[in-house]
Amino acid sequence: MNELLLTDDDRARAGARLLALLDSHERGLPEEDILPAPDREALTAVLAAPMPERGIGVDALFDSWEDTILPNSTAVAHPRFLAYVLGPPNGIAPYAEAVAAALNQNCNFSQLSPAASVVERSVLEWLASVVGFPATAKGILTGGGSLATLQALATALHDRVPDFHATGLQRTAAPLVVYTSVEAHRSVDKAAAILGIGLDNVRHIATDSLHRMDVAALRAQIEQDRAEGLRPWCVVATCGTVSTGAVDPLDEIADLCAAQDLWLHVDGAYGALFLLSEGMRELMGGCARADSITLDPHKLLYASLEAGCLLVRDGAKLRDAYAFDSSYLTVAEDPLMTDYMDYGPQLSRNFKAFKVWSAVRAFGVAAFREANERTLALARRLGDGIEATPGLTLLAPVTLTAVCFQVDGATPEEHTALLATLAAENVALLGPVVVAGKRGIRACVTNHRTSEADIDLVLDRLRRRSCPAGPVGRP
Ligand SMILES: Cc1ncc(COP(=O)(O)O)c(C=O)c1O
Repeated sequence: MNELLLTDDDRARAGARLLALLDSHERGLPEEDILPAPDREALTAVLAAPMPERGIGVDALFDSWEDTILPNSTAVAHPRFLAYVLGPPNGIAPYAEAVAAALNQNCNFSQLSPAASVVERSVLEWLASVVGFPATAKGILTGGGSLATLQALATALHDRVPDFHATGLQRTAAPLVVYTSVEAHRSVDKAAAILGIGLDNVRHIATDSLHRMDVAALRAQIEQDRAEGLRPWCVVATCGTVSTGAVDPLDEIADLCAAQDLWLHVDGAYGALFLLSEGMRELMGGCARADSITLDPHKLLYASLEAGCLLVRDGAKLRDAYAFDSSYLTVAEDPLMTDYMDYGPQLSRNFKAFKVWSAVRAFGVAAFREANERTLALARRLGDGIEATPGLTLLAPVTLTAVCFQVDGATPEEHTALLATLAAENVALLGPVVVAGKRGIRACVTNHRTSEADIDLVLDRLRRRSCPAGPVGRP
């Protein structure tokens, strides 16, 4: 008898209850509260409850999940969850996660995870081909886009600062400078701060009327910094800015980086996986010219959290940055296998690639392409509807799936109140945005479940925005 295992009987009941839970979650989603008001009493009781000396058992545990955890969880998979850039999980995700937990492969070196090593490599090679990277590219799955960018900038430091592992930044003669746009995600600032570059050495370049990095301003800033004795080092361009979905002029920036010998990282956490559609090559094909790129399978591949990805064009540089001698580990050279501990900062790592690989195998690449194209079309539908509605104004062109708008003449407080009303009526969860200093509302259709009817319902409510929702108060 092992107290940490389930009996045959418990295992059968746990399996049945898990299937029932997943099934009722799936069926109940459209009726769920998108943003349930947390039951503070129940959550306080969770905090107050002592850890039991004797376990409560399978049924009581499932009961507590159903009574307390599920009703107090944000329904990110609801079809009208349209806030932030957060995709609901695809249908195979819970099953792949369960199997990955059972196998518990340690994806650090291949002796502990042979199949996982090959599966991760297969996912990375496929993603590299989507971006258009050469066969020299290597990468690693990460905890998300923010970590991918952090790991990319560490790779760029290692590549550009002589003897970086030994001396770090302590011997650099002049401060290194990183360039990004005013619309860049805060993960770029965070990475620069964490890596010791310092926020004073992050230049936030102005954007053009389409919210894309202004390349002339970038060039001028680089020249000014060189003239002042600083050391321009890296540009982080964005393929899909978090607020408006703008795509920086990647080819022009790549030309400038080549001419100035700067590392080019592309933050494609939001947008780069739209490259699954050939039609996107013109807009974002320049991703292929980056030295490194961040992708986020937990966004446009609808992997369950967490699954980010870093790809580096010259994979040897990624390995050089992270490989340390590990004489106490059983590592053997094997051309089929990759020891991912040599490609990132972690030693123990979970099997993130399994859920990504399983979903692409189960549904096929076309299903993801079609889901993404549907979200693009739905965002255009919402944008067109807003443009056609007197009293509402788009704050930015709809490039990808972010739709930013304002209610003409509304104060920031009134916008906040409208967001709260839409959430309280369960019409939709949208988010706040500031575009070129103007406050407004942002919808982001990163949701494979959203339909035209959902978009029309949101539009209809926005058109009746000053009316109370009526006695039921819900669609
Ligand atoms: C452009 C961009 N970069 C980076 C991130 C951060 O990604 P993650 O939340 O996976 O760390 C996001 C998140 O929305 C994003 O939109």
